[in-house]
Amino acid sequence: MPLDTLTITDNRTGQIYTLPIENGTIRAIDLRKIKTGHDDFGLMTYDPAFTNTASCRSAITYIDGDKGILRYRGYPIEVLAEHCTYLEVAYLLLFGELPTQSELKTWVFEITHHTMLHETTKKFMEGFRDFAHPMAMLVSTVAALSTVYPDAKNVHDPDTRLLQIKRLIGKMPSIAAMSYRHMVGFPYVYPDNDLTYTENFMNMLWKMVEPKYVANPVIARALDILFVLHADHEQNCSTNTMRAVGSAQADPYLATASAASALSGPLHGGANEEVLRMLDEIGSKNNVPAYIKKIKEGKGKLMGFGHRVYKNYDPRAKIIKWAADQVFEVTGRNARLEIALELERIALEDDYFVQRKLYPNVDFYSGIMYQAMGFKPEMFTVLFAIPRTVGWLTQWQEMIVDPEQKIARPRQIWIGHDTREFVPMEKRGKTEAVLQK
Ligand code: ACO
Repeated sequence: MPLDTLTITDNRTGQIYTLPIENGTIRAIDLRKIKTGHDDFGLMTYDPAFTNTASCRSAITYIDGDKGILRYRGYPIEVLAEHCTYLEVAYLLLFGELPTQSELKTWVFEITHHTMLHETTKKFMEGFRDFAHPMAMLVSTVAALSTVYPDAKNVHDPDTRLLQIKRLIGKMPSIAAMSYRHMVGFPYVYPDNDLTYTENFMNMLWKMVEPKYVANPVIARALDILFVLHADHEQNCSTNTMRAVGSAQADPYLATASAASALSGPLHGGANEEVLRMLDEIGSKNNVPAYIKKIKEGKGKLMGFGHRVYKNYDPRAKIIKWAADQVFEVTGRNARLEIALELERIALEDDYFVQRKLYPNVDFYSGIMYQAMGFKPEMFTVLFAIPRTVGWLTQWQEMIVDPEQKIARPRQIWIGHDTREFVPMEKRGKTEAVLQK
């Protein structure tokens, strides 16, 4: 018997099956041959929320959640955050190798020359209500780009795909900044091609009447580091959405809008905004023990804590803490930081959190840092979506060219009625139809 196999005895029939194990995985479809008879569909796995299912083979981002390791294309996140710019890392993710100086120059030039939005897109954005949430504006506008670039539906043409990828990476900061300017009622600032990716984003956000925007270099670098940290994170909720929508061969604008919608949820990228609300609710360092007690009694969750994959300190949270110190040198310490540090200290010593391996995640400190940089909480998830765009698109590209991938379509376990006799309207009694609580 080969060693890399799994032997299963079906106690219903006494039949023995041998399945190959490859990369620590059996193929779910191999279970289908385990049947009780000819009319049996065959065995399936039940995995709500995909806690133990690999949906693809990927060579982009590696995570070891127990050891707290994150690597893009084999390079540790700590090294990339220290030595690279965001666009350099975007190139690495997409093309698989770090760029040479001339490759990077061309890449930066191309992204920089895709930052403009069509004037009709600007008009589209002007139609949002003045209280519209910037994340919802971003999602809708990215979807609307599908109408501006109808060529994007040609998803099997590599050149067309690359063009849309460059457009999306280039335009994300412009849409994000315009969402912000719309929310605060300021006129839209056009991109400035002399500036770096993050400096230009800051320009489009904060330029007022000065003839040329000059970004604070410490803030610009810290923002760039945050972008590096957020660029990809393998098969998380929004990436899974990107792949699922992309698997139906929807164009990349619509697929990216879907991924960004998933990101907006408070259990995913929306957590950074929630962390700030939580710190405000706690109010002061002295109230931390009482708040932790409340969480342990099951009244809510500690936002910015816990992760499906990391059962150790999120390596990104460590780097953010370091970068936050650089930012606070410029902006002064944020009062919420004291509360956050106390919350982390108590939680990391508390049995409830220790036993469940709940550590701070990327969102725990990013919000405090963003706020110190001058961002409003409504912008936090938008700030996550900008750099994650290259991750979504890289995963989409990998999915499109993978010959094993098909339209994503899970199965279900049927728990509803068997065939029922139709009841004509006049014979129907009062129903107790209510939505399940
Ligand atoms: N505070 C308190 N308890 C928690 C927390 C938390 N933040 N997170 C998990 N737990 C508890 C759960 O109640 C559960 O306890 P139980 O075993 O007594 O029932 C146990 O820890 C395991 O948690 P699950 O919910 O099964 O973990 P899951 O992997 O499904 O959830 C998630 C991961 C969604 C991130 C969760 O930890 C959470 O809601 N955290 C808060 C929101 C957050 O910070 N999200 C950002 C994640 S990072 C990102 O997406 C960018």
